[in-house]
Amino acid sequence: MKTAVIVAAAGRGERLGAAVPKAMQLLAGEPLVVHAVRSVAAAQHISYVIVAAPPDDVASVRDQLAALVSAPTISVVLGGATRQQSVAAALDVVPPDVDVVLVHDAARPLAPTSLVDTVATAVRAGHDAVVPGIPLTDTVKQVDARGAVVATPNRATLRAIQTPQGFRRKVLARAHAAATGGDVTDDATLVERLGDTVYVISGAPEAFKITRPLDLVLAEALLATRRAVR
Ligand code: C5P
Repeated sequence: MKTAVIVAAAGRGERLGAAVPKAMQLLAGEPLVVHAVRSVAAAQHISYVIVAAPPDDVASVRDQLAALVSAPTISVVLGGATRQQSVAAALDVVPPDVDVVLVHDAARPLAPTSLVDTVATAVRAGHDAVVPGIPLTDTVKQVDARGAVVATPNRATLRAIQTPQGFRRKVLARAHAAATGGDVTDDATLVERLGDTVYVISGAPEAFKITRPLDLVLAEALLATRRAVR
C-alpha cells in the first residue's frame, strides 16, 4: 500500500503581511515549505511528496527542496487560485500505484512526524478519512452579520481541525471530482459532502497553523527549543 503526501503551499498569506508568499516565509533561515516537507518526508512508508507551489516560486521551491530535504520522490506543481484548486492540481499527478493520500498545509511547518505516521496508519488500517483535531480552549460563539450572537455551541463537542489529513485515494479523488466550485478550507469537508464518515483523532499542538506574525514568533521559539534539546 503506497502513500503520497500533498503539501499545499501556494497561498499568498496576506494575514502574515509579508512580501513573499507564506510558504516562502523564512523560519530559522529556511522557508516554511522546507520545514513542512522535511517533517512529512521523514514519516514511515511515504513514497511520494507532491508540493503545490505559488506561481512565481515553482522553480525556487523545487531547487530548495532538492538542496535541503533528503526525501522520497518530491515533485512540485503549480498551485491554483484557491487551496482546493492547489490540492486538486497535486492530486492530478499522484502516481497510479498510490492507495493512500495525505494532504498537509505548508503553513503548519512544525507538525510532528509522529502525527503524520498516526494519520497514515489510521487510513491504512481501513478508515476512509482521518483528520487530527484538538479540543478548543476558548468559548466559541456563532454571530450574525451585525456581530450579534446567534448561538453558543457546546465547546466539548467541538474540535479545531489540523493537517495532515489522510484519505483513501479513491475517496479523496471522488470528493474532489464532485466539488463544484467554491473553496473549502479543508479536504475533509469535501468527503463529508459525499456522506462519508470522517474520523477525528488527537491532533498535536505543534501542528498549529502560521497565519499571523505572532504565530511566527511561537514557531521560532518552538524550533529553538527543539534544537536545544537535540
Ligand atoms: O490561507 P490558509 O492559511 O488557510 O492556507 C492553508 C494552506 O493552503 C497554506 O499552506 C497555503 O499555502 C495553502 N494554499 C494553497 N493554494 C492557495 C491558497 C492556500 O496551496 N491558493
